[in-house]
Amino acid sequence: MNYRFLIVSAALLVSLRAQTPAALTVDVKQPKASVSPMLYGLMTEEINYSYDGGLYAELVHNRTFRSDWSGILNWYLVEKGTASAKVSVDNRTGPSAALTNSAKLEVAKADAKSPAGLLNEGYWGFAVRPNTRYTGSFYAKSDAPLPVKIALVADQSGQTVASVAVSIAGAEWKQYKFEMRSGQVVTPSAENHLEITIDRPATLWLQLVSLFPPTYHDRANGNRADIMQKLAAMRPSFLRFPGGNYVEGNNLASHFDWKKTIGPLVDRPTHPSPWSYQSSDGMGLLEFLEWCEDLRMQPLLAVFAGYTLDGRVVRPGPDLEPYVQEGLDEIEYATGGPDTKWGALRVRDGHAAPFAIHYVEVGNEDNFDRARTYDGRFAQFYKAIKAKYPEIQVIATMPVMGTTPDIVDDHYYKRVQGMFEESKHYDQTDRKGPKIFVGEWATREGTPTPNLGAALGDAAFMTGLERNSDLVVMASYAPLFVNVNPGGMQWSSDLIGYDAMNSYGSPSYYAQVMFASCVGDHTVTSSLTGAGDRFFYSATASPAKACLKLVNANSTAQPVTITLPGLGAGAHTARVSTMHANSTWATNTIKDPKRIAPVTSTLQVTGDRIPYVAPPYSIQVLELDLK
Ligand code: AHR
Repeated sequence: MNYRFLIVSAALLVSLRAQTPAALTVDVKQPKASVSPMLYGLMTEEINYSYDGGLYAELVHNRTFRSDWSGILNWYLVEKGTASAKVSVDNRTGPSAALTNSAKLEVAKADAKSPAGLLNEGYWGFAVRPNTRYTGSFYAKSDAPLPVKIALVADQSGQTVASVAVSIAGAEWKQYKFEMRSGQVVTPSAENHLEITIDRPATLWLQLVSLFPPTYHDRANGNRADIMQKLAAMRPSFLRFPGGNYVEGNNLASHFDWKKTIGPLVDRPTHPSPWSYQSSDGMGLLEFLEWCEDLRMQPLLAVFAGYTLDGRVVRPGPDLEPYVQEGLDEIEYATGGPDTKWGALRVRDGHAAPFAIHYVEVGNEDNFDRARTYDGRFAQFYKAIKAKYPEIQVIATMPVMGTTPDIVDDHYYKRVQGMFEESKHYDQTDRKGPKIFVGEWATREGTPTPNLGAALGDAAFMTGLERNSDLVVMASYAPLFVNVNPGGMQWSSDLIGYDAMNSYGSPSYYAQVMFASCVGDHTVTSSLTGAGDRFFYSATASPAKACLKLVNANSTAQPVTITLPGLGAGAHTARVSTMHANSTWATNTIKDPKRIAPVTSTLQVTGDRIPYVAPPYSIQVLELDLK
């Protein structure tokens, strides 16, 4: 083998490829196949501190005083000056049947200059901004009427940045609500903690200590505005919830038992997420639905289907019936009128209008069920759901025998090369079977959030989704979120990263934003020659516009002559959005959140030929007016 010859030939090919334009022909007036209006959506679960310490805006970490051998998690004793106190968990008293314990603070010695109490560390701090209202509440009782001080305190200076006093009435459990406002000159920072202190000897019991900053749409018990805004920019058409593994749970006792996630927070016992921490369940079924409402997304409700992550299974038949009923009740809670048992509870919980549910998924990744019971379990759920809600599209988590699901959920987690290959996955798929939902997918390179190389893999994959969207009706990247603080991540390569103060989009996030920004309602006839196997495209159109996506995953620019036969002779303006970097390893971070982000420009097109050069390592969306 003459290696020198091979190397020279390869170099020549590279330079020729750089010089010889590829040819892309897109007949914008020749529809080929439909594109699903539901194609791009979101998938979510409690992982990587997605809700607690993430989207769900609660600031207090472990508001229900869970403890282990080391003490009450995330809470610490405060003894200032000459104060003397101790704290323990009292398992004999709590404010509700769901929260049967409490933190017991016994203060032997304290005065105004020497207060004692408890400190909460928050989710890697408490984000405090100037002139901001913080809304809080807690349940308490005490051995005598007692003033309690609540304060946000700067970690380094010890200065109080916001505070309020609340009077505890005495020996009966009662909820206390309060508000406090930070001052004008406070420096925005997450280096703060919460202190709850008293200034005299007394015994105080506390439970469900909660504090919220302003939330998106000012919802009580609501979501962080910065993260919701990032999601809105993705224009998602649906939300798949509550999982993922989170719907399954590690075992039967810890599956997502939706009935324990509704109603007042004091009636929610909390439960372990399979991702190694306890879920507060502040993001419960109604909050998921309101999240959909806020972003105008259709709920895609995943119901627990009897398989848990410890490999155990509830066999189809009578044993499974309670779980089928649990799923039916869940749908009724969302969609039922006030005259239905569960719809009435939703009304009680503050949402009179029913939600529309068009998609229900039965389980999650049931291909892992080694007892192979999914055919039977799916059939039982399918029959029951269709009998009561014939209009609901029922989604299976794997191909099933004996019943034909409306949609089957496929998952892909791969490196860049794998995703390039998967971009062609559906090109040859038979169209006679169920539709496809790509319910979880991601190019996994880069941590905690994916880098530009991963975004190229994602974009290549999405060209395949668009090209085949007559079959692939929905798709959602996963996981969506990660808290980037140490210990926050259980699964790397997550779309959006954040800490207590700020959030940022990864290059993969921007690829999603770009792709969803322009999607026609059909694909058009097109062909590409001479571009090699690291160049990808998709072409869709609707009557008013054409959308062309170009993904150049080469390290060199790619000249391409774009011919648009249906465009006509006149002048047209194209809006171009470009994301590019010099290296596949280039990325965004919490400290440098916008290194890689799309920039927009315009391109004047005269006639139907565009001599074009796609930049190296780039994703581009060209939006052309057709009218
Ligand atoms: O997205 C992370 C996990 O990957 C999901 O919980 C699970 O469905 C999949 O295996």
